Amino acid sequence: MKELLRVENLCKNQILNHVSFTVEEGEMVAIMGPSGSGKSTLLYNVAGMDQPSEGKVWLSEQEITKLSEDDKASLRLHRMGFVFQQMNMMANLNILDNILLPAMQANKDKKEKRKTKAELRKTAREWMEKLSISDLAERSITQVSGGQLQRACICRSMMNEPEILFADEPTGALNKGAAGEVMNEFIKLNRQGTTILIVTHDSKVASRCNRVFYLLDGSIRGELVLGKVTSETEKQKEERLNQWLMEMGW
Ligand SMILES: Nc1ncnc2c1ncn2[C@@H]1O[C@H](COP(=O)(O)OP(=O)(O)OP(=O)(O)O)[C@@H](O)[C@H]1O
Ligand SMILES: [Mg+2]
Repeated sequence: MKELLRVENLCKNQILNHVSFTVEEGEMVAIMGPSGSGKSTLLYNVAGMDQPSEGKVWLSEQEITKLSEDDKASLRLHRMGFVFQQMNMMANLNILDNILLPAMQANKDKKEKRKTKAELRKTAREWMEKLSISDLAERSITQVSGGQLQRACICRSMMNEPEILFADEPTGALNKGAAGEVMNEFIKLNRQGTTILIVTHDSKVASRCNRVFYLLDGSIRGELVLGKVTSETEKQKEERLNQWLMEMGW
């Protein structure tokens, strides 16, 4: 397995304290921990959306923490995908145009291999099909449910074929059924090769990842290796995770 993400000694003011970890290509890793422990801050600093006060982050050969703001923005657009709870969808655009937005932006940067708008729309339609929201293309973002909007957000995050997907509580606002559906989509994407780093409060969601980190007061206090994601061992893994979380003081 090849290393995709390397985080070394990451500090952010008093919020993150010397966090180090690596993620291999094709892994799905969960970050858990109590509210205020620094999970979102960690995600923002790893993804180059915030400047850490100390430490280094690499995405394969590229040292993110050394890049200019413009280069970080470009790296995020071309190599990363984001599914956050406050999803930053544009209220003046319909669902389809929201999904198309990062792809249109990425296209502008490209000198070659540019895609036509028709090609991008086709890709967007395919993602919407996969996530069962094809019929919502023309709706405004206020005319769909939370789960549907979250699925649109996943479509949007996949448009530029990211190497790594960062998700912050992607199922937080959803009921059990919708959360399960969204998680199934993540598992599918992961099986197709997308590396995923996901912050979650939901042990059911985390139990379907390969590894789980426990963050407390801005430090990683524990790591649980759950191994391959299979449906057969799902229940056992959930029990193992819950046991471990209890030991961690969850
Ligand atoms: N921009 C900021 N300026 C100062 N402090 C901040 C900022 N953002 C977050 N914090 C503080 O940093 C700590 C960690 O916040 P963070 O949002 O990373 O926690 P979290 O683990 O994601 O929590 P939750 O599970 O509630 O989302 C909290 O004490 C929070 O108040
Ligand atoms: Mg958070």
